[in-house]
Amino acid sequence: MSKVQVMDHPLIQHKITYIRREDVGSKEFREIVGEIASLMCYEATRDLKLQDVKIKTPICETTGKELSGKKLAIVPILRAGLGMVDGMIHMIPSAKVGHIGLYRDPDTFEPIEYYCKLPADCDEREVFVVDPMLATGGSSVAAIQMLKEKGVKRIRFMCIIAAPEGVERMQKEHPDVDLYIGALDDHLNDHKYIVPGLGDAGDRIFGTK
Ligand code: PRP
Ligand code: URA
Repeated sequence: MSKVQVMDHPLIQHKITYIRREDVGSKEFREIVGEIASLMCYEATRDLKLQDVKIKTPICETTGKELSGKKLAIVPILRAGLGMVDGMIHMIPSAKVGHIGLYRDPDTFEPIEYYCKLPADCDEREVFVVDPMLATGGSSVAAIQMLKEKGVKRIRFMCIIAAPEGVERMQKEHPDVDLYIGALDDHLNDHKYIVPGLGDAGDRIFGTK
């Protein structure tokens, strides 16, 4: 069964509470989503493997540590996942970025695919899928399925707010994918929005409503 890590860092909790407020405008919302993504990236990369490397400082030769193992990729689920990319890249600048375009049909709540462009060597990379919201889980389950069909073997999923329904579905459909969650909320409403949530993440990031 996958690992589910709900972030307990005070800065992450504080920033999530801040952006939940309905009177926070797009500029501030976008900036803080980026900050939360950076902080969550820091927490979610704690177990990356290191290897020894010999280097020369201006003073002497020494042995330091550097990242080893698989190279990384970040794959945002469009649109709202884009809001987390810069914050992630800030922490892992060598990561490649792929994009998966999905939107939720407003009537059926099923994900509709409209775009997929991944790094050519994505099957050799460890991939972080990012999307601020995990609601029914339809979008993230579909995105991860698309990655698996391209041969990606090691996948982590990172979201800012999750509903228990989405977590359960992800664990059932992709038990091999670890979940990193900023805040685990209460439930979904009749429109499949997360309660208390923060509303429509894409609209709030891009100011489309
Ligand atoms: C939102 C969100 C997730 C999805 C979550 O995207 O960013 O991708 O809904 O819901 P689910 O877990 O029930 O699938 P949306 O479909 O609104 O598209 P957008 O990012 O383009 O606004
Ligand atoms: N998508 C969002 O942007 N917000 C929700 O609460 C659910 C799905």
